[in-house]
Amino acid sequence: MTGDSGVSAAAAPARLELVGVSKIYPGVKALDSVDFDLRGGEVHVLLGENGAGKSTMIKMMAGVHHPDTGEIRVDGNVVRLRGPGDAEDLGISTIHQEMALVPQMTVAENIFLGRPPRRFGLVDPRAMRRKAVELLERTGLDLDVDATVGDLGVAHRQMVEIAKALSIDTRFLIMDEPTAVLSRTEVGALFTIVRELTARGVGVVFISHLLGEVAEIGDRVTVLRDGAKVGEVPADTDTDELVRLMVGRSVEQQYPPRTNPIGDVVLEVRGLGRDGVYEDVSFTARAGEVVGIGGLVGAGRTDVVRAVFGADGYDRGEVLVAGQPIRRGDIVAAHVAGLALVPEDRGGQGLVLGASVEENLGLATLGERTRGGLVDLADQRERAQESVRRMGIRVHSLDQLAVTLSGGNQQKIVIGKWLMTRPRVLILDEPTRGIDVGARAEIYELINELTAEGTTVVVVSSDLSELLGLSDRVFVMADGRIRGELDRAQATQESVMALAVTEG
Ligand SMILES: Nc1ncnc2c1ncn2[C@@H]1O[C@H](COP(=O)(O)OP(=O)(O)OP(=O)(O)O)[C@@H](O)[C@H]1O
Ligand SMILES: [Mg+2]
Repeated sequence: MTGDSGVSAAAAPARLELVGVSKIYPGVKALDSVDFDLRGGEVHVLLGENGAGKSTMIKMMAGVHHPDTGEIRVDGNVVRLRGPGDAEDLGISTIHQEMALVPQMTVAENIFLGRPPRRFGLVDPRAMRRKAVELLERTGLDLDVDATVGDLGVAHRQMVEIAKALSIDTRFLIMDEPTAVLSRTEVGALFTIVRELTARGVGVVFISHLLGEVAEIGDRVTVLRDGAKVGEVPADTDTDELVRLMVGRSVEQQYPPRTNPIGDVVLEVRGLGRDGVYEDVSFTARAGEVVGIGGLVGAGRTDVVRAVFGADGYDRGEVLVAGQPIRRGDIVAAHVAGLALVPEDRGGQGLVLGASVEENLGLATLGERTRGGLVDLADQRERAQESVRRMGIRVHSLDQLAVTLSGGNQQKIVIGKWLMTRPRVLILDEPTRGIDVGARAEIYELINELTAEGTTVVVVSSDLSELLGLSDRVFVMADGRIRGELDRAQATQESVMALAVTEG
C-alpha cells in the first residue's frame, strides 16, 4: 500500500470526546448535555429510538453542526470544527444516514469528491480511477468504479459511501446506520473491514437499529433517549435490557399473531421477465395473506415489485389483480386496481422533503379525498394526526417540514402515507429499514389490521426474522429468478438462505 490514500494506524492512542454537548433546533432540544467518548481500537455503539438524537450527535463529530453548549476534544485537546473539512483533517471520517452522493457521477468520482487526485493542478482522472480500484480491492467492496451512482441500488450506493469514508487517513470512523440497506453477506464484509480498522487502532462509532449487530461488532454501548444519555453499558448486555433502556419499557411481542382467514387469489404475477434483469417470475397472493419475498440484495426483488406496481415496464408476462390484467408500466392503472407500493428508496421516491408532515401524509390520498374539487383540509389534518399517533412519528407539529425529521421518522411518514390509502394490495419494500424496535412492532400491528380487513400484503425484506415472522408464504429470489416457495412451516432461516444463494 502506498499510503497516501490509505488507512493508517494512529501513532498515539486516539481519543474523541464530546463533553456536555447540547443542540437546540426550533421547537426541540435534540441533545441535552451529553457526554460521549470514543477510544482508538474500540467500536462504540450508539442506540436510541427514532429521533433520540443519534444523527445530531454524529453531525457534531463530523463538523456539520456545532454544539450550542459543550465542547469536542480530540486526544485531550479542545477542537473547533468549522466544517466537515476540519473534521476530515483530524482523521474523522463519517458515513451519514442520508447519502451525500452525486447520482450523475461515477463511483470513482464520488469516492474522491471534493479532493480528487491532481496532476499539474488539474484533476487526473486516470489516477483517480486507479486509486479507486486499489481502494476497492483492499477493502473487498464489490463495486464497478465506472458505474454511474444513480444507476446503483441503495446497497451499492451505501458501499460507495463506505469506500469514500475509507479514502481518507481515518483515525475515527463514524457510521450512521451503515447496515440498514445491506444484506447479511454485505454486513459480514463491512464487519471484517471494521475489525481490521480497530485492530490498527481506529476508533469506530456505529449506529444500528438491528440489536443483533450490537454484540456482534460492539464493545461499548451508549443509549440515548429524548436527547439525553440514559446509560452506557457493555455491548454484550442482553437485548431486552437494551430495549428497556432505549424505549423506557419492554417490548414483548415483536410479531403479533395473525388469525384472519385467507381468501381468494387477488394478485397474480405470471411469467414476468425483463431482459437481463429477471426472468420467469410467477407468484400469487391472496386476500388477507402476507406473502414474503426473500433473497439477497441484487436478486431482483425491487425490480420485480416496481414492475408489478407499474413503476417500470417489463418485456414478458402479465400482472393481474382480481383476474383483470393491468397494463404494463401504467402506475395509474395499477393505482385504480388497488395496488400500492412503499418503495425501498424512501428518500428519493417516497417523500417530498420540502413539504410539511401533513402534506406528505396527505399526498397519496389527494385524488380521492376532495370536496367539490378542493382538498378537504380538515379531513387531511385529521388523517395526518391519526397516522402520526399510530406510527409513533416524532414531530413537534404537523406543519414541520419533512426535511427536519430524523431518518426513521421520515420512513414512518412514507409508510403511514400508503397505509392511509387502504389499498387492496399493499407492497412493502424493506418496510422497517431504519425503524426502531418500538415502531417496528406498530407497523406489524398495522399490517395485521390490514390483513384482517382482507388486504393482500407483499413484503420484500432482507431481515430474515422479519420475513419469517410476518409471512404466510415466502418466495425466495436469486439472480433474477424465483428459486422456491416455502409455506409458513417450511420457511426457516436455513431454508430461505439455501434458496437465496442458488447459482444461476
Ligand atoms: N434541521 C432540523 N430542524 C429541526 N429539528 C431537527 C433538525 N434536525 C433534526 N431535528 C430534530 O432533532 C431530533 C433528533 O434527530 P436525530 O436525527 O438526531 O435522531 P436520530 O436518533 O438519528 O433518529 P433516527 O433513528 O430516526 O435516525 C428529532 O426530533 C428531529 O426532528
Ligand atoms: Mg439518525
